[in-house]
Amino acid sequence: MELGYINGKFVSLDENVLPIDERGHQFGDGVYEVIRFYNGKPFMLMEHLERLVKSANAIRLPITDTLDDFRKLILTAAEKSQLSECNVYLQITRGIATRNHLFPDVPVSITMTVREAKPLVRELREKGAAVITHPDERWVNCYIKSLNLLPNILAKQAAHDAGCFEAILVRDGIVTEGSSSNVFIVKDGTVITPPLSKRILAGITRMAVIEIIRESGVPYAEKDFSETELLNADEVFITSTTAEILPVVSINGSKIGGGLPGEITKRLYQKFQERISKL
Ligand SMILES: Cc1ncc(COP(=O)(O)O)c(C=O)c1O
Repeated sequence: MELGYINGKFVSLDENVLPIDERGHQFGDGVYEVIRFYNGKPFMLMEHLERLVKSANAIRLPITDTLDDFRKLILTAAEKSQLSECNVYLQITRGIATRNHLFPDVPVSITMTVREAKPLVRELREKGAAVITHPDERWVNCYIKSLNLLPNILAKQAAHDAGCFEAILVRDGIVTEGSSSNVFIVKDGTVITPPLSKRILAGITRMAVIEIIRESGVPYAEKDFSETELLNADEVFITSTTAEILPVVSINGSKIGGGLPGEITKRLYQKFQERISKL
């Protein structure tokens, strides 16, 4: 059963629980994580929680829960839902206080939802995704998984309006990441992804893919590439908790790799599935 959680209490998803002065609602003043459970087991839970605490510290959220407290809370929520394939969304905000920009002296709010994880449409998974490129109009601290997603939302909607799945963001001619994913290209047998910096989110799926690449001995580099290099890549794929590893077969209407998912991308996805089956 899909369910929600707010500050110590499990609730049904349609219950009205948020006071109007909740700062997540008023300011987007908070951070979040999305964790995928496969067959009742979380995928890279501690890595997600470490990133959560890093995001919380970066915006000076006074969290008192430890990593282990969050771990137990998330495991309890998933277990309570009895959904073996689910996504747990966890959000921490600066709490509930009369609207004022300054930090209030109140406890943070912790909310969660547990929802069934539906696999991507089969055709998308098998045939690959069409994407657009879009100006990266976000702020300078994209390593923080902040609730403030307005530029990401506008970019994703622009992609959708163009009949595409994702918008790949470009800043000063350099590819950063997708609106809700990280980006990889393959050129002459080498897999390339932008290095970690404040311009991108340190994706957990990105981390898993890099581990798989290292284990497999595939040539690999973390370096910036331009929009032109993206368009001329042999293969392109995006990664995220919900999309896993998804081949990109067209960008701005031009085919990539002849319009078919690339061989290296397919091999990495297979290894990713093997990892999941071993959870
Ligand atoms: C901007 C952005 N980059 C990258 C990612 C991928 O991160 P992860 O693999 O941890 O889901 C996301 C996920 O939502 C995202 O929003």
